[in-house]
Amino acid sequence: MQNLLVTGGAGFIGSNFVHYCVEHTGFHITVLDKLTYAGHRESLASLPADRVDLVHGDIADAALVNDLVPRADVVVHYAAESHNDNSLHDPRPFLDTNIVGTYTLLEAVRRHGKRYHHISTDEVYGDLDLDDPGRFTEETAYNPSSPYSSTKAGSDMLVRAWFRSFGVQATISNCSNNYGPFQHVEKFIPRQITNLIDGVRPKLYGAGANVRDWIHADDHSAAVLKIIEKGRPGETYLIGADGERSNQQVIETLLELFSLPAGAYDQVTDRPGHDLRYAIDSTKLRTELGWRPVVDSFETGLAATIDWYKANETWWRPQKAGTEARYVEQGQ
Ligand code: NAD
Ligand code: TYD
Repeated sequence: MQNLLVTGGAGFIGSNFVHYCVEHTGFHITVLDKLTYAGHRESLASLPADRVDLVHGDIADAALVNDLVPRADVVVHYAAESHNDNSLHDPRPFLDTNIVGTYTLLEAVRRHGKRYHHISTDEVYGDLDLDDPGRFTEETAYNPSSPYSSTKAGSDMLVRAWFRSFGVQATISNCSNNYGPFQHVEKFIPRQITNLIDGVRPKLYGAGANVRDWIHADDHSAAVLKIIEKGRPGETYLIGADGERSNQQVIETLLELFSLPAGAYDQVTDRPGHDLRYAIDSTKLRTELGWRPVVDSFETGLAATIDWYKANETWWRPQKAGTEARYVEQGQ
């Protein structure tokens, strides 16, 4: 059995990965999570205690990290400040966690000679024009737009440097926008689903022409496992499931799934510097490592996600009022 140290494993994608590993592997998992507003013990509560431990702590705490890393075979680093809108209002925690936190982990895996996998985002590449036929590849130049994406870009660069200068056995994956269970209601899809459950109209930033390339969190988890098992150290792999939709299309699909009339949403203040389009070419991951998405379609995955939020109101309800109050203050 392999021991994994999973940072940020109480957050959205990290907790989905831990659930996925418990179901599909024999790994023992130690989660290191600061339990910020975005981390929830409850997201791991249903998992067997002999397979998953949760350590409450900060990835920037070098003493703690140096205690945990030697006990792991592989470190998988999900922990981050992850929300663009928050980064526009208070960038500091993004620097502390995404840059200094990643640096702290890299120094520990370097010292203890451990395999490291770094979870990142396609947002490091900036955005594409709406009418650009191209998609991001591993060769696309970095061009981040926001404090969130620039700190993620900085963390990717640290990983590349620690591989080249110190020989750290590291891989990087840059994934497109995820959806699925356990996602905080501040994010686009769960915000609209929980609004609709509450009988509130969905909120679209600006005209809603912006395009995101959606992937189910389970398909992301399967890709990360492939990279841990078969990925080549020093390499970057892009993860995407050909799920491009405009924000307006996503809201129209949600309205249809709730049996509500088309157009029943509000347009609200747009995000400053709002990236137009993200799109991933995942040929390298598919051909070199044999990964492909298994969730049938975005619409099927979205219907299952709606069912999850309907069945798990106790998980999201405590986040909802405070999140909406902050958005209202911002005119969103
Ligand atoms: P999230 O905000 O839901 O979860 C982040 C987790 O990290 C939380 O549990 C939080 O408590 C924890 N955390 C934050 N600061 C910490 C610190 N200093 N020490 C320890 N734990 C800390 O984020 P997410 O959406 O699950 O994203 C996870 C990772 O995936 C991030 O690295 C993000 O950049 C990347 N990513 C996200 C998406 C997406 O669509 N959400 C897409 C591609 C990549
Ligand atoms: P988000 O989930 O914040 O992810 P990201 O900024 O990483 O892409 O937002 C996804 C898209 O949805 C983005 O274009 C902003 C838009 N958006 C809305 O239109 N309305 C909303 O209420 C939110 C939160 C986001």
